[in-house]
Amino acid sequence: MHLYFKSFGWLAMLPRMQTRVVDVDTMDDSKQVVKDAVAILAGGGLVAVPTETVYGLAANALNAEAVAKVFEVKKRPAFDPLIVHLSTYRDLPKYCAVPQELQQLVDTLTRQFWPGPMTLVLPKQPIIPDIVTSGLDSVAVRISSHPTLRAIITACEFPLAAPSANLFGRISPTSARAVQSELDGAIELIINAGACSEGLESTILRPYLDANGQPAVEILRAGPITREQLKKFCKVRIAGKNKKNADRSVQAPGQLESHYAPKKPFILLESPEDFKALEGRLALISFEGDPEAGYVELHPWSQVVALSPGSGRMAEAAVRLFAVMRQLDEDPSVDAIYAEPVREIGLGMALMDRMRRASHPNKQA
Ligand code: TXA
Ligand code: MG
Repeated sequence: MHLYFKSFGWLAMLPRMQTRVVDVDTMDDSKQVVKDAVAILAGGGLVAVPTETVYGLAANALNAEAVAKVFEVKKRPAFDPLIVHLSTYRDLPKYCAVPQELQQLVDTLTRQFWPGPMTLVLPKQPIIPDIVTSGLDSVAVRISSHPTLRAIITACEFPLAAPSANLFGRISPTSARAVQSELDGAIELIINAGACSEGLESTILRPYLDANGQPAVEILRAGPITREQLKKFCKVRIAGKNKKNADRSVQAPGQLESHYAPKKPFILLESPEDFKALEGRLALISFEGDPEAGYVELHPWSQVVALSPGSGRMAEAAVRLFAVMRQLDEDPSVDAIYAEPVREIGLGMALMDRMRRASHPNKQA
């Protein structure tokens, strides 16, 4: 804990404020909300914004003091760098120095997946303050497809640093209500545009040259853009595979083993044989709710919640995972949460990644 805010001690006593929650209809351009958000951001304040993945906590990425407030409000350790959201691909060279040998691959991936749930880690330009990247010489950038965020960012004269709008180590918010439950009183404005369409954080990729000098990508965080989709364009490797933990922390700073965690005990069962009953009322997160998978009948669960009831659709499960975790975490009639595994193909890789981190024993506070 003492690692937190070593450098931002002066912010530790931020005054509580009135948090406004404003609903937007993404079909209209909600001009007044956009204006309000831009004014707060330009003045160095924070706004919780919808994205297609999860809600983000946005600040002017070029204003180090505003970015420091993001770390403060989230109680995020200073070693965990933020994602910078851009308004247009044309701005990429302002903030990233793309090596010439990787330019073609970066062009291909961005044409294919931006705007959308893909984040690229690239060498940074000096204009990005060190606090954004935790002192790394690379910066993570993405362009969101969410119409409200796009309207805001287009009207800003600066990019937005925006991590997920949850307290550090907790479940990412996929609704404005989830943001409010953690950040009420700490930020000025929450924009409510309804549920996020993807439900899991973006896929984070690091383009690199492989041993043969061929452009390739490394997946630093699994997400909605899958390994299978990426394989159509280049060689893909997964960060941390065949590496010791010490190396992994350098490869993917912030990708801590415990993350996305409910407050209650959360146990991912990798197989039915793993099950050991804790005391109290136990709930099961099931993929389809199908007893044939071998989990539903393991125990007289107090509740079984299916991520994709009956149909077993991975995309539906991804959209619902964080909301279901949060719902069971807040339910006073549940003492511990168990989850059944999903197949680790396509989106299943990101789902299993989030559930493994949530169930890691060394939970962050
Ligand atoms: O979908 C998303 O990506 C959401 C929405 C709000 O855009 N954002 C998000 O941000 O998930 P956050 O801060 O919760 O996760 C960002 C992760 C960090 O934990 C860190 O591991 C990684 O991005 N990251 C940021 N900069 C990096 C860098 N230079 N090198 C490697 N990883 C980096
Ligand atoms: Mg996060």
